[in-house]
Amino acid sequence: MINKQAIGIFDSGIGGLSVAKAINTLLPNEALIYVADTHYAPYGDKTDTFIYQRMRVITEQLIAFGAKALVVACNTATTAAIDALRKEFSLPIIGVEPGVKPAVQVSESKIVGVLATPRTLLNPAFATLAQRFAAQASILLQPCPLLVPMLEKMQVDAQSLEPVLKHYLAPLIEQGADTLVLGCTHYNFLAEQIASIASTLAGKEINIIRTEMAVAKQLQHRLQHAEILNTALLANANIKLYSSGDLALFQRQVQHFWQTEATVLAL
Ligand code: DGL
Repeated sequence: MINKQAIGIFDSGIGGLSVAKAINTLLPNEALIYVADTHYAPYGDKTDTFIYQRMRVITEQLIAFGAKALVVACNTATTAAIDALRKEFSLPIIGVEPGVKPAVQVSESKIVGVLATPRTLLNPAFATLAQRFAAQASILLQPCPLLVPMLEKMQVDAQSLEPVLKHYLAPLIEQGADTLVLGCTHYNFLAEQIASIASTLAGKEINIIRTEMAVAKQLQHRLQHAEILNTALLANANIKLYSSGDLALFQRQVQHFWQTEATVLAL
């Protein structure tokens, strides 16, 4: 079956591109429309009310562009207001949550570190998630407020990143964490650096938990269930990437973080 509508995906900025990339790998027959809300990034220092307003505006825009399903490719936005968004809009909506469950499963020390934005970690929805696993493991929380702004500015050279990552990772390793959850989609682009610095600090290999492929699989399941999954290649299954911010910068970000032929457009 061929459904010409696209999958709408959004994030405060480039983080959700890691999710879009996984969706494109798993579901190459689907057209994708991505919105980076760069003008308002980071969401991590905004209120839930503000984030929800942006989620509504972007969802309406993506529906107007022809989205058949929506992926909130942002942990901060998911914890802030995905329930309210689902009540308001009837299309399938998939969110992103820090992978605490898989982390607890693989951790041998049963000490797990969660790296995320301050807003995600302070949210009651995250507290409920962490609470579910509190009996099985110690869940250490590490807010990383500098990372999203650095990635958005493409300050990703080793010299800039290393001291910041060490500052965030050292306390987790000192407390015995052997597994780290990347609880912000932006951090997927730092997975290798985080793994390398954490493993060096620990003197052994540290597990890194990312969730973008699990999100892509969940989307596949929801599309199948709603009978809107493309089982054959759509003639123009293209990828359109929109940004509400500086388009020249967005173009450079996309080239650096994805290397795709996708069209880059102003929102
Ligand atoms: N990628 C977003 C997340 O997963 C970043 C949020 C922000 O803009 O602070 O949380």
